[in-house]
Amino acid sequence: MNKQELLEEAFKAMKNAYAPYSNYHVGAAILTSDNKIFWGANIENASFGATNCAERSAVFAAYSNGYRKDTIEALAIVSDGPRIAAPCGICRQVLCELVKGDMPIYLSNGKEECTTNINELLPMQFSEEDVIQ
Ligand code: THU
Repeated sequence: MNKQELLEEAFKAMKNAYAPYSNYHVGAAILTSDNKIFWGANIENASFGATNCAERSAVFAAYSNGYRKDTIEALAIVSDGPRIAAPCGICRQVLCELVKGDMPIYLSNGKEECTTNINELLPMQFSEEDVIQ
């Protein structure tokens, strides 16, 4: 599965966004090493802090199905906003622990796209290495 195909999966996942408060829809798709796809969408809540972002939904789905850092190959994140949705700070911290630092992260809003990774998105990481000695 190539970058464009994974982005298309993320756009399909975006249709499942539950965003009655922000009306901002985000979709994510994870590709595993055995070619499975896990979708995620943003799921909001009236208690706003309980909202789950799309990329966290996708990575938690992959982990819940037994996949780990070494078996997660790529992540696509898309939105319907005017500019590319780069992961929020909480998602960067979560991704820093749950995916490989150099794993490709594809971003698109249907107009612009770019490829990055978590090492680039989150420099000077605080990680499990700091806590587990
Ligand atoms: N959102 C995501 O799903 N991913 C991000 O990285 C940025 C923010 C969602 C959360 C909320 O439902 C909406 O976008 C507006 O913040």
